[in-house]
Amino acid sequence: MRKPFMAGNWKMYKNAAETAAYFEKFLPLVAASTHCDIAICAPFVNLPAAVAAAGASRVEIGAQNLYWAKEGAFTGEISGPMLVNVGCKCVIVGHSERRQYFHETDETVLKRTQAALENVLHPIVCVGERVEERESGKTEAVLQTQFEGGLAPLSPAQFAKVTIAYEPVWAIGTGKTATPEMAADAHRAIRSLVTAKFGAAAAQQVRILYGGSVKPDNVKGLMAQPEIDGALVGGASLEPASFASIVNF
Ligand code: PGA
Repeated sequence: MRKPFMAGNWKMYKNAAETAAYFEKFLPLVAASTHCDIAICAPFVNLPAAVAAAGASRVEIGAQNLYWAKEGAFTGEISGPMLVNVGCKCVIVGHSERRQYFHETDETVLKRTQAALENVLHPIVCVGERVEERESGKTEAVLQTQFEGGLAPLSPAQFAKVTIAYEPVWAIGTGKTATPEMAADAHRAIRSLVTAKFGAAAAQQVRILYGGSVKPDNVKGLMAQPEIDGALVGGASLEPASFASIVNF
């Protein structure tokens, strides 16, 4: 049995004071939510505030990106050891906004994922098709290319520590969620890629989250699909009551 995992992706929202205020409201609402692993991925500069505010709770704090070198002359970048040093436990890798606006490729997704694992950070690796790819029937081919470039080169031991997030690009921030059946089909396709590369046991074990306009009112239908192990939540994670009701689906 895979334990559900709900991760909030705050993107470029909230300052340190808003971060502290959020956790004050959020933590009591999820204090009894032991059915589920919970993470909040905050902007870099607010990670210390988020770690302090999460305190000894079960809510893990994550970043939204990392660079693959440990240190060096890479102006503007943040490394895995730096994230660990401020108390991060997980990190999103390869989000479609990184791919679309910041030239992330499957090759750099792999490097970042490997860097996360070397630093004992739990990577949440995002894959997903764009609207024109879905409309031209290329969804599974796109998922295969992203899997082969970004995940398949990992060792089995490394892969065992990865969470995958399926996020159809057309559903992110648009209010258009994939139907539970559409999401489950994509999750099945990803899981069969995992079976072919890493074997049936690895495919049974890996958690695949759905992301794209997950809200309190559609999470139940998504989580009713046995293929869907949790959600990566953007907009609806910004408000404590809304994300808590997703956690407590
Ligand atoms: P959304 O974002 O929930 O606002 O659609 C999801 C994501 O980008 O991870």
